[in-house]
Amino acid sequence: MGKRLKKINLTINGQAKQVVADDKMVLLDLLREHLQLTGAKQSCDRKGQCGACTVIVNKKAVLSCLTKVQKLEGATVISVEGLGTPDNPHLIQEAFALAGAIQCGFCTPGMIMASKALLDVNLNPTVDEIKYALRRNICRCTGYAKIIEAVQLAARFLRKELTPDEIRPKPTDAKMGISHVRPSALLKACGTARFAADIAMPGALEIAVVRSPHFHAEIKNIDFTEAEKMPGFVGSLTAADIKGTNRLKYIVGDRPVICEDRVRTLGDAVAVVVAKNRDQALAAVDAVKVEYELLPEIRSTDAALAPDAVQIHPDRPNLCFAQPMIKGDAAKGFAHAESIVEECFSTQFNHQAPMEPENSVAYMEGKGEDATLVVMGRGINIHLHMSMLQEALGFENIRYEEPFSGGQFGIKLEIFTEGIAAAAALKFNQPVRYTPSIAESMLITSKRHPFDMKIKMGADAKGKLTALEMDITVDNGAYNSIGNVIINRALHMLSSSYYIPNINVSSKLIYSNNPWGSAARGAGPPQAHYALECAMDLLAKKLDMDPLAFRKLNSLEPGLTKATGHPVDQWPFPELCDAIKPNYDRAVADAASHDNKTTVKRGVGLGAAAFGIGFPGDKSISAVELEADDGVTVYAAAADPGEGNDSMLTQLAAQVLELPLDKVRAVTRTTAKTAAAGPASGSRVTLMIGGATVAALEQLKKAMDEVGSKTFEAFKAADVPTRYVGNRATVETAPLDPETGQGPSSESDVHAVQLAEVEVNTETGDVRVVKMTTAVDAGTVINPNNLTGQLEGGMDMGVGYALREEFIAGETKDWRTFKFPTMKTAFDMETVIRETPRTRGTLGATGVGEMAMVSTAPAVINAIKDACGVLITDLPATPEKVLAALKSADKA
Ligand code: FES
Ligand code: FES
Repeated sequence: MGKRLKKINLTINGQAKQVVADDKMVLLDLLREHLQLTGAKQSCDRKGQCGACTVIVNKKAVLSCLTKVQKLEGATVISVEGLGTPDNPHLIQEAFALAGAIQCGFCTPGMIMASKALLDVNLNPTVDEIKYALRRNICRCTGYAKIIEAVQLAARFLRKELTPDEIRPKPTDAKMGISHVRPSALLKACGTARFAADIAMPGALEIAVVRSPHFHAEIKNIDFTEAEKMPGFVGSLTAADIKGTNRLKYIVGDRPVICEDRVRTLGDAVAVVVAKNRDQALAAVDAVKVEYELLPEIRSTDAALAPDAVQIHPDRPNLCFAQPMIKGDAAKGFAHAESIVEECFSTQFNHQAPMEPENSVAYMEGKGEDATLVVMGRGINIHLHMSMLQEALGFENIRYEEPFSGGQFGIKLEIFTEGIAAAAALKFNQPVRYTPSIAESMLITSKRHPFDMKIKMGADAKGKLTALEMDITVDNGAYNSIGNVIINRALHMLSSSYYIPNINVSSKLIYSNNPWGSAARGAGPPQAHYALECAMDLLAKKLDMDPLAFRKLNSLEPGLTKATGHPVDQWPFPELCDAIKPNYDRAVADAASHDNKTTVKRGVGLGAAAFGIGFPGDKSISAVELEADDGVTVYAAAADPGEGNDSMLTQLAAQVLELPLDKVRAVTRTTAKTAAAGPASGSRVTLMIGGATVAALEQLKKAMDEVGSKTFEAFKAADVPTRYVGNRATVETAPLDPETGQGPSSESDVHAVQLAEVEVNTETGDVRVVKMTTAVDAGTVINPNNLTGQLEGGMDMGVGYALREEFIAGETKDWRTFKFPTMKTAFDMETVIRETPRTRGTLGATGVGEMAMVSTAPAVINAIKDACGVLITDLPATPEKVLAALKSADKA
C-alpha cells in the first residue's frame, strides 16, 4: 500500500511553510533533511532516549524524532536556529556558553530547547523543576551540574537581574585562570556547528554494512544477487575491493576494514552495500546472503589460554602480550608486614558512550592523478588515522578532516566507519555517507578492557606500605588496538600516589572473540586503581587507621620512586589530602549522624590517584603564524571533542603574546594545515601539544620583540618570518624494561582524591550517590570552567562505571540498556582545586581530562562498604550484586 500523503501548513522559526508529508515523516526529518536545519540531533535511533532532537511545538518541548509531521497542521515550531545566532544569541544560549555547560555540544541544542520551554512558563525554577524539565535530555560530558547552573543563569538573565555583559570575560582580561568562553561554544549553542551528519553533501550515496551475527566463523560465501535487485542499489564492496593491506593498524595489523575469510567478533564487517539513500541501503543489505561456518567461540581468557584453544589470529598466539614488573623484593616486603590483605577484583566491558553515532563522510576532490580522497570523521589522531587509511586502502593522496565531534572519551583513538566510507568513495568515485545507528555504533566500536586482578598488599606496624603483589589478566577481545599500551599505562601508574618499596606484578593481554578493547577515559589505570584503592581501605581498616591519614602517610615524596623505579620530583599529594580533609570530616560526621537504624545506610569512601601524563618518547609539534589582519593563528592537530582544547590553545597564545583573545584563533581539524602532533588522548594535549604551541609562540614573541611591533606589516617590512614551528618532546624516551617493568616514567602527574558519600538500601541493594567531591592539583589553571567541567563529567562517568554501566555484546543496544546517566542519576558535586605550577608543565599546567574518573569507582565501592559492610569486588555494583553480597554476609 502506498504512503498516505497530506499537505500540512505550519510555521517554523517564524516562517510559514507548506509541506507534503507522508504518514511516516517525523519533524526531525523535516527539519534536518528538507529544511537543512541541522541543530536538532539524533543519538538514540529515535527511541525517545536522548532528547538531542528536542524542539518546541506549540510552546511545549517535544522530541522531534517521535513527532509525526501530519499531526502538525497549524503548529508553531521553534528549533534552536530560531532562537539566536552566534552573533546575536538568545540569552539562554549565552547562559549555556558562559556557564561552561557546553563541551562536545551534541546534546546542547536539545538541552537549550527544553530549557526554553521551561523558562517560557517559569522564570524562577527550582533545581527539581529544572531536572524534571530536562529529564529526557541526556549528556555524557558534563555530569549535568553545569547544565543546571546554565538554566539558573539563563533565568537570572531573563528576570533581568544580570546581563551577559556583566559576567562575560573581556578579550583583554587576564588570559590564564579565567573562564573565557570557548571559541566554539556559541556555534554549538546556536546549532550552527556542523557534526559529520550535518554536512551537506547533495547526491551522496549511502552505505550499509553486513555485520557478522557470529562471534567466530569462517565466511564461506557472500551472495549479492537479491540485493542487486533492490531499489536504489548502486553497488557492493567486499575485502577483495580493498587495494591496500586492508588493515587498520595501530600496534599490530590485525583489524581488517572488511573481513576477508573469517569474522572474529560480533559485528565484524563482512560486506558493504551502497545505495541512493539510506533506507534503500539498509533494505538492500538485508537481502545479502552470507554463508558462515561456525568456529568455537572463545569468550573468556581462560578459554583462550586452554591448551586446545583455537588460535584467533593465525600469526599471533592468544596470549599476545605480557609484561612483568619487579621492584625491590616483594617476598621480603611481605615478611616485614604487620598486616596483609588479599582480594580478587574484576571489571566489566564498558562503552565510552559518546552521544554522536560513528558518522563519517568521504568524497574525491579533484580529478585524475591529483585527486584527493577526503575523509571526514571524528578521529582524535588525524595524521595517524590518515596514514592508517593510506596503508589499508593503498591510496596515498588522502586528507582527513574532523568536523565537530559529539564526544569521544578515548573511543576515537581508533577509526571505525571511515575505512569503509573511504573505500566506497574510492570505488564509486562519488561522495558517500555512512551514518550507522547508535546500536551499530555501539556494536562496532572498541570498549574499555575488562581486568581480572588478584592483589596482595602489606604494611608495617606504623602503617607504611611494604609490598604489593598483583596478577593482572586483560581480555583484549578480537583485535589488539593499543592493548599493550593499556597494560603499560596501568603498570606505569600502578603505585598511584604512594611509595611502595617492593612490587611484584605479572600482567597478560589475551585475545578472545569478545568485543575488542582500546582507549577509554583513563585507559588502564581506572581498572588497576579499583583494586589498589579498595585494598588500601582494607589495609587501613586492618591497621585500625583512618583511610585518609593512611593514604597521606604513604604518599610518595620527591626523591622516592614510583612502581617503575623512577624517582618523582614534585608530589603535592599530602597537601591535597589536607585540602579535602574538611570535606571528609564533614562527610564522616554526616554519615555518623544519619539514622542507620533504617534500611538505608550511609557511608563515606575515598579513592586517590596520581595520573601520569607525557610518557617516555612522546612528542608533539605545533605552528603559529602572524596573519595579515595582525591576528595570530595556532596550527595544531589537537582535536577538541569537548575537553576545551581550542580554548586552551587560544588562551595560551594570548597569554604568551600579550594579545587580546579576539586576535587569536586555532586551526586544528585538518591534516592539510597541521603537522602530526599525537593523539588528543591520555590527558596529554595541554602538556604536549600546548607545550609545542608555547615553544612556537615564544619564537614569535621573540621576533615581535626584535621587530618592535606585533603587526604583520612591520614583520614584512623587516623581512622577518611570520610563521614559527614549536616542538615538545619528553625528557625520557626509553620504554619499560620487558623483564622487570622498570624504567623512566611520565613527564608530569596530576593528583586527585575523590570522596564519595552514598546511601545503600539494604532491602533492595540500590545505591544512591549523594555527593562526590574531588580535590585535584593539575598545576596552573588555564580555564576554571573547562577544568571543573572535566572533573564533573569525569565523576559522573566514574559513578556510572562503578554502579550501572556495562557493555554486553548482543544485549547492550541503546542508551537505556547501557544505563546512560541522566538528570535522575545526577548527584551533588564539589571540586577543591589546588594549583602547584608544574616545573615541566605548559606555563605550569598539566592535563586533567581523565583524572576524575580514575579513582571514582573505588571511592564509591569503599563508601558502599562503609555504609553496609560489604565489599563489591566485581564492577558494576548493581543492586543485584549488592543485595547478593548483603545476603551472603547476612546483612540484608
Ligand atoms: S533522537 Fe529523539 S529522543 Fe533521541
Ligand atoms: S556536552 Fe552534552 S553530550 Fe557532550
